[in-house]
Amino acid sequence: MCGIIGYLGGREATPILMESLKRLEYRGYDSAGVAVLELPRAGEAVRTSVTKSEAKVDTLIAKLKMNMPSGNLGIGHTRWATHGKPTYVNAHPHTDCKGKIFVVHNGIIENFAELKAELEAAGHEFPSDTDTEVVPHLIEANYKGDFLAAVRAALKRIKGAYALAMFSSDDPELLVGARLNAPLVVGIGDNEYYIASDITAIIPYTKRVLVLGEGEVAAVTPLGAEVSTLDGVTVNPKIVHVDWDVSQAQKGGYPHFMLKEINETPEALANAMRGRLTDDGTVSFREFDVADKQLRRIDDILLLGMGTSRHAAMIGEYVIEDWSGIPARAEDASEFRYRRPTVGEKTLGVVISQSGETADTLVAMQQAKARGALSVAVTNVVASSAARDADGAIYLHAGPEIGVASTKTLHAHIVSLYLLAMRLADVKGRVSPERKRELVEALRLPVALEGALKLKEISYIHAEGTSGGELKHGPIALLDDQFPVIAICTAGTTKDKMVSNVHEIVARNAPVLALITKGDRSLNGVATDVFEIPEVDEAAAVVLNTVVLQLFAYHVAVKLGQDVDQPRNLAKSVTVE
Ligand code: F6R
Repeated sequence: MCGIIGYLGGREATPILMESLKRLEYRGYDSAGVAVLELPRAGEAVRTSVTKSEAKVDTLIAKLKMNMPSGNLGIGHTRWATHGKPTYVNAHPHTDCKGKIFVVHNGIIENFAELKAELEAAGHEFPSDTDTEVVPHLIEANYKGDFLAAVRAALKRIKGAYALAMFSSDDPELLVGARLNAPLVVGIGDNEYYIASDITAIIPYTKRVLVLGEGEVAAVTPLGAEVSTLDGVTVNPKIVHVDWDVSQAQKGGYPHFMLKEINETPEALANAMRGRLTDDGTVSFREFDVADKQLRRIDDILLLGMGTSRHAAMIGEYVIEDWSGIPARAEDASEFRYRRPTVGEKTLGVVISQSGETADTLVAMQQAKARGALSVAVTNVVASSAARDADGAIYLHAGPEIGVASTKTLHAHIVSLYLLAMRLADVKGRVSPERKRELVEALRLPVALEGALKLKEISYIHAEGTSGGELKHGPIALLDDQFPVIAICTAGTTKDKMVSNVHEIVARNAPVLALITKGDRSLNGVATDVFEIPEVDEAAAVVLNTVVLQLFAYHVAVKLGQDVDQPRNLAKSVTVE
């Protein structure tokens, strides 16, 4: 996830921006930049110095040290690419046509394409591929001598998610922050102020933090910080005292990244859908913009992945086949490459990889492509190898995942595959309800497999996932009072079958934790314990059940004192075969 820092005060801004960007590095990023409003020398006009690096913060710092901008107002950014590759031009800050307004942004602007077209028609020029760049131009278009008013007018036009820090060289004592669906705080020091996406950035400087609400704007001047709505109504700011150290702040107060990331699932799901799904159910993908005619030719879907991504592929297989009617198969990418599979020009290869760098998955995709398949990478990392090698990309926009075990990105993968299934169903002109029963049964199996994988990798307790139907064909032999079972019995057409399975399990003295739909009493007095999830559509239940299993694995591992974020023998990205 991108990181934001802004400073206004009596000290030199550049060293503070540099230190803060270093502290934001842990969030993961691909490029970085700062803009500092330089103190004018006698007779000179105010000017802004912009320094960027398309690589690491250390490179940026080296550049700044060679040519240190001097001024008391500045903004800085670490970019995690969402729209446009991680290049120098796409790095923030971005500016308007006159080079007066400077903006750094976290989030995704959903309607940026339409805003950009409108601004281009009015003569604005956009050197970058980013969604962010519409912000300074929109402010410029609304500027009539009052920067804050122009910011408010511009933000009223923007849909999506933003955390912004901005300034204009016409207002050298004004730093503005704004947020919607993305976090932003204002740090209050002694006659100095900070704007940050993350408390980590400012924790050594101040513990007094003003938390901006949704759709609020903070106007920071040497006299203080004033908060208002987009309509200009003054808001009483909420000031909190933060007592975290840097490591606690990086984890947002959670004890582990894994727990933090599980809790980021709602945001990850919203970001995966943002700007892709219209109210009438039409799906479009910006970086996988394939004409209906081309998609209509597809008669075979091949989903490739490893580990958790393979479980996402299995869920994708069932949903795509069921909704679109196109035969789909999920394959273990490491095995696929050693086969002579039937792949052709009517195949769509869907490559699923959080990192976009998993060696087995990349090789399997190359083989599918060599046989003529159209390919799309569903990945979290913009311009990763998978995204570059495939014909198109569907980016998760889940933000970096630091815990080795995949959590929120699994959910983002699942939702992205649902969207792809809807897109394919749409072009094929069908959504098939008739295979619902098989679908529900099928969807439960990857959830169970994933629950078992999570438990294995972080608590080192052996676990396996199986369908209810498969139980009597082998796994039931393992059961006794020392073999706890988690049964996924949430509402759906196979629920009654699962309830019968639980009776059979309990009859073998195995303790059962049943995941049930809220209010369901059918396992009262049967299951040892139940965990209720809300009543939701079966597709959504897949995500909720997985969250419960992730949390279960997490708490077991914590109780056993294991290293949850860095499990032994595992790497976040497996770049060797
Ligand atoms: C499990 C886990 C791994 C990855 C697998 C593929 O929690 O994280 O099983 O899912 O190594 O990685 P990506 O998705 O980066 O291709």
